[in-house]
Amino acid sequence: LQVDASNATGRPIPETLFGIFFEEINHAGAGGLWAELVSNRGFEAGGQIIPSSIWPWSIIGDESTISVVTDRSSCFERNKIALRMEVLCNSSGCPSEGVGVYNPGYWGMNIEEGKKYKVTLYVRSTGDIDVSVSLTSSNGSLTLASEQIIALASEVSKWTKKEVLLEANGTDDGARLQLTTTKNGSIWLDQVSAMPVDTYKGHGFRNDLFQMMVDLKPRFIRFPGGCYVEGAWLSNAFHWKETVGAWEERPGHFGDVWNYWTDDGLGHFEFFQLAEDLGAAPIWVFNSGNSHNNQVETASIMPFVQEALDGIEFARGDANSTWGSVRAAMGHPKPFGLKYVAVGNEDCGKKYYKGNYLEFYNAIKKAYPDIKIISNCDGSSQPLDHPADYYDFHVYTPAKALFSMSHMFDNTSRDGPKAFVSEYAARGKPDANKGNLLAALGEAGFLLGLEKNSDVVGMVSYAPLFLNTNDRRWLPDAIVFNSSHLYGTPSYWVQQFFTESSGATLLSSTMEGNSSYVEASAISFQSNGSDYIQIKAVNFANVTVELKVKMTGLDSKVSAKKKKVLTSASVMDENSFSNPEMIAPQETILVMPEGNLTFVLAPYSFASLDLLK
Ligand code: AHR
Repeated sequence: LQVDASNATGRPIPETLFGIFFEEINHAGAGGLWAELVSNRGFEAGGQIIPSSIWPWSIIGDESTISVVTDRSSCFERNKIALRMEVLCNSSGCPSEGVGVYNPGYWGMNIEEGKKYKVTLYVRSTGDIDVSVSLTSSNGSLTLASEQIIALASEVSKWTKKEVLLEANGTDDGARLQLTTTKNGSIWLDQVSAMPVDTYKGHGFRNDLFQMMVDLKPRFIRFPGGCYVEGAWLSNAFHWKETVGAWEERPGHFGDVWNYWTDDGLGHFEFFQLAEDLGAAPIWVFNSGNSHNNQVETASIMPFVQEALDGIEFARGDANSTWGSVRAAMGHPKPFGLKYVAVGNEDCGKKYYKGNYLEFYNAIKKAYPDIKIISNCDGSSQPLDHPADYYDFHVYTPAKALFSMSHMFDNTSRDGPKAFVSEYAARGKPDANKGNLLAALGEAGFLLGLEKNSDVVGMVSYAPLFLNTNDRRWLPDAIVFNSSHLYGTPSYWVQQFFTESSGATLLSSTMEGNSSYVEASAISFQSNGSDYIQIKAVNFANVTVELKVKMTGLDSKVSAKKKKVLTSASVMDENSFSNPEMIAPQETILVMPEGNLTFVLAPYSFASLDLLK
């Protein structure tokens, strides 16, 4: 590898090159990053026709002691369904443990000893009824924390908000929330929430999952989907206005592409808050008037355009603007720095996409000339026939094919909009996997090619980011979790090799020899006031490779080096809950040899060398 190490001949890499894509898929948010423990907190998930299913809530007691139905008596206008319990214990009384309902959360709640949980609920009742609010083990046999509230008869005509702070005296990651009573009477419940007090900055993000995102140093975050934005039908697409304001008043919705209900605690506001907390530029994807099954023709698209403009105003408008004031009332008077929006997701081939796109484009550019607009149409092999700042590019293909796409942008026109590779992953047969080393090495080769073509590729993100292991809808993913544990797949760790790339300088490098299974790149970057050169190389074959690095253009000798290697005994190896870091970067500090550097690449491995200038 011949490297010209002088920055003068290098090229700046965009500040935003490497980021993340968050989609509500695989319970990434509901039951994942969003720390709310209760699932279906407003009893809306069963639909608006009563009586409806209350799943995953279940009843404690039997037909002789309790009857549970839903009715439409909620005090919240946009989500009228409430739960009504008739407690019917006979004259000898209710069982001592009480009767009522419990919520198991998303495959069990993670309750940790010494930690505090805020339970909020809305009640009304026909008599003075005491209700135990408890966190218990999965079958209710062990109480981890409990407090009593009293629903007063005097409050029968009006819903009352109750809050309790529970401190757990034990740990169980399969726990549940119980609401029980031993008194006969009618009691209504609605909007029941249990939030851990300890979330990132109190903003509602589960700390360990948030940290995994931070560790990637993402320069942007694309949200909230994906297909999730489109919906199988437009009525089930992500409608941002339904996801802002007080959490109790949000109707929630059924995401019909990934087939689950979300209470929309992680809504439009929270996504911008997340971006701000990560120090990442928000990239909002909105619906282009297209779902998987129905479309809005261009002649009727203006309400969608207005909804997009309002969503931008929500993020950017001052606190006196119509939608900026809603954001301010939610606790963020300062605008969020929204500079990128994407018109739809994978919609380019649809009949009305281009017509609709132009309506969005013209209206947004008129109101917000500085906002960069991302088209769904691919401009990598021929110029777009419409104006755009970026074009979206998605690729899911087996590892070998992805590796061989390392050079796909070499011949892309240097004029016109840049590529936003917003979804990529090695996926599919013959190496269908849950995220193995082979997939990660295919991705490493592809990413090195993107880094080298970062004059025409402006942004890159892997997809999907998260998988709740209980909802394995889309494999592979970067981060796998359950209620209490997580691990990064090898694809996650490959991304960590690129954390210094955004904003660095790409050094000119050429590979001599004719190996088709080695890709490499060289960058220079600054960290803590020191200058570094970093060489990254991937070996996509079952042989050891000695990569000789010849460097020119250095003013002084490089003085120390850190080597980071990602490999494993078998290229089909995967991480797991029982062996979460079987495949994770191994770091060694090496003494500099004299003369030229030889970078020994183990079979099927990805490695980087950091040299201090
Ligand atoms: O990343 C999973 C899905 O793949 C996304 O929702 C969609 O954009 C793509 O088809």
